[in-house]
Formats: sequence, C-alpha cells, structure tokens
Amino acid sequence: MKSLNINKEIKLLKPHYPIGIGKKVEELFKLGQLTEGKFSEKFEKKLSKYLNNDNCVLVNSGTSALTLAYRLLNLKNKDEVITTPFTCMATNEPLYNDKIKFKFCDIDPKTGNASIESIKKLINKNTKAIVVVHWGGLPVDIPKLKKIINPKKIKIIEDAAHALGAKINKKKIGNHGDYICFSFQAIKHITSGDGGLLVCKKKSDAKKAKLLRWFGLNRNVKGNKWLQDIKYSGYKFHLNNIASRIGYEQMKFVNKIIKTHQRNGKFFDRNIKNKKVQLIKKNKNLISSYWLYSILVDSKKKFKAYMKKNKIECDEVSFRNDRYTIFKKYRKKLKGTDYFNKHMLNIPTGWWVSKKEARYIVEKINKY
Ligand SMILES: Cc1ncc(COP(=O)(O)O)c(C=O)c1O
Repeated sequence: MKSLNINKEIKLLKPHYPIGIGKKVEELFKLGQLTEGKFSEKFEKKLSKYLNNDNCVLVNSGTSALTLAYRLLNLKNKDEVITTPFTCMATNEPLYNDKIKFKFCDIDPKTGNASIESIKKLINKNTKAIVVVHWGGLPVDIPKLKKIINPKKIKIIEDAAHALGAKINKKKIGNHGDYICFSFQAIKHITSGDGGLLVCKKKSDAKKAKLLRWFGLNRNVKGNKWLQDIKYSGYKFHLNNIASRIGYEQMKFVNKIIKTHQRNGKFFDRNIKNKKVQLIKKNKNLISSYWLYSILVDSKKKFKAYMKKNKIECDEVSFRNDRYTIFKKYRKKLKGTDYFNKHMLNIPTGWWVSKKEARYIVEKINKY
C-alpha cells in the first residue's frame, strides 16, 4: 500500500469555534449585555435538553462546578472523601482549598480510571463521597460503583470534564451520580473560552447551587436584587453572557464534534496493531466520548520523539496529582497510578483529525 503523506503537524488539542462568532459577541457589547443574561439562560437550557436533565447549573468553569459540588456535600470535620490521583489539578485542589479530608485511591492502569477495588478498600465509616474522573471521556462504571457503597450515605461526584456525550448503559453522562461536573474550557469538546456545568441529581441541590453561584442571591427576583437576605454565603461563579453566547452557538455543533472524536477513536481501536503500544480497555456498556485517545507505550520519550518526527503531536495532558508539594502528605505507593503515569501518552483524535490523517496516524504507530 502507498504510504500516506501529510504536510502540517497534526495537533493534539484544538479549540473549536463557530464561524462568525466574533460579530455575535460584538452585538452584545453594542447592547450592553455582558454579565449573566439571556444567553446564559439559553445555553443552560440547551445543555439541559442535550443531557436530558433539568437540574443543570451553568457556571464559569469546571473547577467552579466541582467547588459547588463539594460545598453541597455539607461535610463535617471527620467526614472523608475518596478521590482519584490521576487527573487535572482542578479535581482535587478545591478539596484541598476547602480543607476537606481526602484519600487517593489507585487507578486501573488499563483505563486510567479510578479502580473500584481500590475504592472499596478505602471506604470506612467516615466516607461521605467518592470523586471519579471519566478519563479521556471513557466512563467509570457508576452503576458498578453504586453496588459497593450505600448510596444514601455516600455520594458520587463525577468529574465529567472529558466526558460530554459519553454514555453508560445507553444513558448520557449527567444522569448517574449525585453531582456531575462538565467543563467548557478552551480545548474541551465544546468551549465557551472558559465555562462549566454542574448537574445535580436532586432538584433542591440545583436550586441551592443556583443561589451559591451568585453570592447566595437569587438573580431572578424583581426589583433590587441586593435587598434580599443571604442565607448561604456564595461565590461569583456565574457564566457571563459573552461566554454563554459562544457556548450557545457551539451547541449547534456538539453532536458533530463528538461523533468525529468517536469515529477517529473507534478507527484507532480497530486498526492500531503494535505489540509495543497498548490500547485502553473499553467495556461494551461504557461509550467513550474520546476527548483524548490515551495509549500506553514502552518509552514516552522515545515514542514522543518518533511521533514528532512524523509531525504528530502527542503528550501527557495530566500527571498524578501527588507529584506536587501541596499533596506531599498524600503520597503513597499506587501501583496502577505509577504504571499509567510512566507509560501513558495521548494521540490526536479530535474533530480536526480527518479520516486521512487518522489513517496516517495508524500507519505511523503500526510502524513504530
Ligand atoms: C479532568 C478535569 N477536571 C476538571 C477540569 C477543569 O475544568 P476547567 O478548566 O473548566 O475549570 C479539567 C480541565 O480543564 C479536567 O481535565
């Protein structure tokens, strides 16, 4: 077969933007509608419809969504949280900042996701919540996790920053755990520059989160909003109208973007065949959104250099969180995490990767 050629480097990550968005944003400046407004509401409604869940709270980042979720847990002094160490610092820094006691579980090196067996070993009478990350968009099996806990006593928080459009047992992520946090940061499936969404299982939680997102005040009351009483001290976490305008427009492309990520990801699943490259294990009931395509290689340095030579960008994206000084006291031997951290790299799989480029990537990896 003739070898394929490409002339430009294939990027690992790229922000999607709707053509003509600049003009639409300019319009808001002309109208003087910059802070939380009509489009914040419209974007939130679109997301509710997309996820098929009414309890959606639009916020200004995935980190803010996680911060709100942790706040809604209402934890007391002795309460503990179990979380995953292999993620963006956004998952765990809000726990640290709010002085919440937590423990790191290990991850399954075949997926990058929290190991349910490891979580099981860490649960004790003080455990109040479990935080999982759907690494790269591949869901953690939440129904399976629910079977090892008492869901009335222990809440599940899903960091779904990578997992917009992913599914468990045919149901979209956003309908399984108690709190689900999405991100619309620069390089996510859809971006509003920065942005995030908290989805709650309980209506009452979503109602409270809406107060907390803006100083503890209800923005929808008539008259002077500042004359209301504040019962819960809140934050300034709302998504402004500019970012919301962009997010709203992005929703027109969401299905196409995710489908292309999945098309490329599934193509890699079927066609990468090289003993030196290990693919992520995917169970049939878990449908990945393929935000990232992670692989495990013998030597990251060697593989990266080889891919660079072939104009394919690949990188780690995140590292185990306990490498940072602030988490020094949480460091411990975690076999799966060690392995994943040592061998995992991501290759380009996003909406910008054409079928031809996907074939080129496979060809180069199979020749490695
Ligand atoms: C796993 C994970 N969680 C949370 C976040 C934080 O989202 P944001 O940047 O929107 O605060 C990110 C990345 O940005 C992430 O990769």
